[in-house]
Amino acid sequence: MASSKLLSQPRWHRLLGTNLFNVRLFSDLASQHPVSDPEPKSNNKFKNTSSTPSSLKEAELAKFAAIADTWWDSEGPFKPLHKMNPTRLAFIRSTLCRHFRKDPLSARPFEGLRIIDVGCGGGILSEPLARMGAIVTGIDAIEKNIKIARIHANLDPTTSNIEYCCTTAEKLVDEQRQFDAVIALEVIEHVADPAEFCKSLSALTAHEGATVVSTINRSMRSYATAIVAAEYLLHWLPKGTHQWSSFLTPEELTMILKHCSIHVREMAGFVFNPITGRWSLSDDISVNFIAFGTKETHEE
Ligand SMILES: C[S@@+](CC[C@H](N)C(=O)[O-])C[C@H]1O[C@@H](n2cnc3c(N)ncnc32)[C@H](O)[C@@H]1O
Repeated sequence: MASSKLLSQPRWHRLLGTNLFNVRLFSDLASQHPVSDPEPKSNNKFKNTSSTPSSLKEAELAKFAAIADTWWDSEGPFKPLHKMNPTRLAFIRSTLCRHFRKDPLSARPFEGLRIIDVGCGGGILSEPLARMGAIVTGIDAIEKNIKIARIHANLDPTTSNIEYCCTTAEKLVDEQRQFDAVIALEVIEHVADPAEFCKSLSALTAHEGATVVSTINRSMRSYATAIVAAEYLLHWLPKGTHQWSSFLTPEELTMILKHCSIHVREMAGFVFNPITGRWSLSDDISVNFIAFGTKETHEE
């Protein structure tokens, strides 16, 4: 049963043999800079007009459309993302500043950087990126998410210039858009084809630009914690939010990105401390993890 399930997995689930030897883990990093967080759709709605295969997965989008109103409720279904945000931003600040030679201690370290937040939802990552000085584009496949993101961003002059757009990565590739940094957090486990999705992320990344992807490892621990505990015992997330078989291991993600010229340079895990209720960066990539890669058309 287990082996037939494995054999029915998409090809990227069977890409074995990648090692993470060249990837710097969290504890290798020179410094960390924690920051404070300064209706189901019809098929027609999501019709693919791009030359690239669509990344959209109807059933996944329906789940997010159903809870779109709650994006900015920090105690609602997106509470885990709100809680993780400072930790995600610490990784992004540290890796992007190092790569783009920016001062991580500056108030606006991303000044002038063009960053796209793919699958931005209600904008909980886009907004702090804009406050850190980035020229931010946020895209999401759900119109309602984009409306909520825009309304919320307009409440603050430091975020009101975010460009929000209801579209997909592949459509922006058709428009030949490119960015210094492409960020897709907690999206890849919800798309139709992770390898095609990564191709689009790569095409959106300027030469020598950066790509940051976070997701959940397909491990026994993630089944126990991210699904059984988070969805069924603690009710942090609506039941059915995640499909374990859609998760990627760090090796798989590294391999998929490498196939589209994104070389993963650094990786970190997110771990939750049940006593403090806080997330922190760690070398433990057995459940939630984030990867930073750079786009090189050929390996040095
Ligand atoms: C778990 S949420 C993550 C939101 C945000 N990235 C964050 O981490 O705060 C996943 C988001 O990806 C969006 N999404 C899923 N598939 C998508 C696709 N193929 N293209 C664009 N957005 C997509 C969903 O609508 C949802 O807003």
